[in-house]
Amino acid sequence: MNVLILGSGGREHAFAWKIAQSNLLSKLYIAPGNAGTGLVGTNLDVPATNFEGIKKLVLQHQINLVVVGPEDPLVKGIHDFFRNDEELKSIPVIGPDQKGAQLEGSKEFAKEFMVKYRIPTAAYGSFTLETYGKACAFLDKMKSPYVLKADGLAAGKGVLIIHNISEAKEALKTMLEGQFGSASTKVVIEEFLSGIEVSFFVLTDGENYVLLPEAKDYKRIGANDTGLNTGGMGAVSPVPFATNEFTQKVVQRIIGPTIHGLKAEGIHYQGFIFFGLIKVGNEPFVIEYNARMGDPETEVVLPRIESDFLELLAAVPEKKLSEVPFSITNKAATTVMMVSGGYPGDYQKGKVITGFESVTDSLVFHAGTSVNNNQIVTNGGRVLAVTSLAGTKEDALQCSYKNAAKLSFDQSYYRPDIGFDL
Ligand code: AMP
Ligand code: GLY
Repeated sequence: MNVLILGSGGREHAFAWKIAQSNLLSKLYIAPGNAGTGLVGTNLDVPATNFEGIKKLVLQHQINLVVVGPEDPLVKGIHDFFRNDEELKSIPVIGPDQKGAQLEGSKEFAKEFMVKYRIPTAAYGSFTLETYGKACAFLDKMKSPYVLKADGLAAGKGVLIIHNISEAKEALKTMLEGQFGSASTKVVIEEFLSGIEVSFFVLTDGENYVLLPEAKDYKRIGANDTGLNTGGMGAVSPVPFATNEFTQKVVQRIIGPTIHGLKAEGIHYQGFIFFGLIKVGNEPFVIEYNARMGDPETEVVLPRIESDFLELLAAVPEKKLSEVPFSITNKAATTVMMVSGGYPGDYQKGKVITGFESVTDSLVFHAGTSVNNNQIVTNGGRVLAVTSLAGTKEDALQCSYKNAAKLSFDQSYYRPDIGFDL
């Protein structure tokens, strides 16, 4: 089977690394990929959102399965593009169609869906500039802090949590007036939920699903969860407070009703669902859905999967997920993200990275790298995810930190405290 992975981050390197281990694989391609994916497959220099360009690659390289990493192509309708094209329509795409991707692409859609299928989530209201007055009245009735969410995709920056009521009203106005472009012409205002966050993941074929290992990521740039939000600075799996009892609640109240609801809505969802949850007391609530795997969560989830991952993916178009063997290791996986100095603000690219050869007992997934003059150089804010697997999360973390210290590039930074709260 020839496989094409779309994307260029650590998540896609982890996908490529895992799929490359499958006996079912003939050739592996990644578009556009990075220096790390180039070590396990062939990179093709086409962005994931250039659908016509992707079509050419798929035909030229006789691709049998496409795996979509990031949300952008999904929300823009890459699945539908394949289904509606005479030459592509028989080629399966792992990732939902445009309607299914609305779980991530529209906060309002996700909230309406959750209310309809009685999936626990924060109380909310949805407003536009025309209903600004009503939005202020809604805020007046809520308690501080106020949670404001741009309806559409805003590159992870569209959620504001504000303590002061007049500041919240001001910020709401700025959002509605186009702070995040068309993504914030509608804003969801939510009740603030207080608790600890954890993410669950499934792969579904529309009928059946496989529950993948859960993970916790660390979004803030600074130690002790301080400073600006990032795409994610590290992750741990399993998550100790996600006990069997808690997981049962998640499955019964959230995952089951979500799969059922998608079917009931006539959404033919084939792909990953990322459930961003918060544990309030002992009860799970949904903070957000994503229509894809998480990054850097994938870098700890996939190393814990023992089964053939490509066999699992290949069963999705046939709706035969329930027939494929699936097992995960009890070992703990941790990843520490090495980032460019200045990230998540401005940072420089093109710094030479050294030390790869001295890392022997961690996996180094490339998040933002490229090749220049036969050297591996930085090419993004998040650069390398150093993943380790061990009997305990403490041992895994120690190993990730030991190896992160061996890798170096000018102005590199990583959080010293991944897993600190577990
Ligand atoms: P989202 O993009 O919806 O995941 O929101 C980004 C972050 O904002 C989440 O990871 C939470 O830390 C926080 N957040 C979002 N919604 C809420 C909420 N209703 N209550 C408390 N924190 C929230
Ligand atoms: N790490 C969070 C995300 O992938 O959305």
